Amino acid sequence: MSSEHGTPRERECACLSRRQTFRAAGAVGAAVAGVGMLSACGEGGQVGAAAGSVASAAGSAASQAIRAAEIPVGGGKVFESIQAVVTQPTAGEFKAFSSVCTHAGCQVGSVQDNVITCPCHGSQFDAATGAVKQGPASAPLPAKSVKVSGDGITVT
Ligand code: FES
Repeated sequence: MSSEHGTPRERECACLSRRQTFRAAGAVGAAVAGVGMLSACGEGGQVGAAAGSVASAAGSAASQAIRAAEIPVGGGKVFESIQAVVTQPTAGEFKAFSSVCTHAGCQVGSVQDNVITCPCHGSQFDAATGAVKQGPASAPLPAKSVKVSGDGITVT
């Protein structure tokens, strides 16, 4: 019964991958149209949350103000609403990459010791460059633009 369509993690990845496709379309209409497709993913409560996330991301464009103090040196933080992972490889140097794993579309999950790790299948990426350090992903995380102003970081 639990192996209906893969493990819960695999189903989540499939949903995230589809969600990414909607965002790539870049249109609110596409995101709203995608809500119906998302209803095929996950269980009841998660469907509503996913649909809200898509609508909110479409409405807020692809930027978000972030406080530098949120980003530890050698670590980072994932901002799922803008599909970005922001890192601080060395003190005062901030980088941002797409948080969508290039393997199968999961959100990367953590940044430790300057390594970004995807929880789905264990791919690892360099927190300074986005380069693959360990597969199964074979393509780097695409870089995003970072602007630092005082304690504020804006990622676009
Ligand atoms: Fe497979 Fe990230 S989706 S390692």
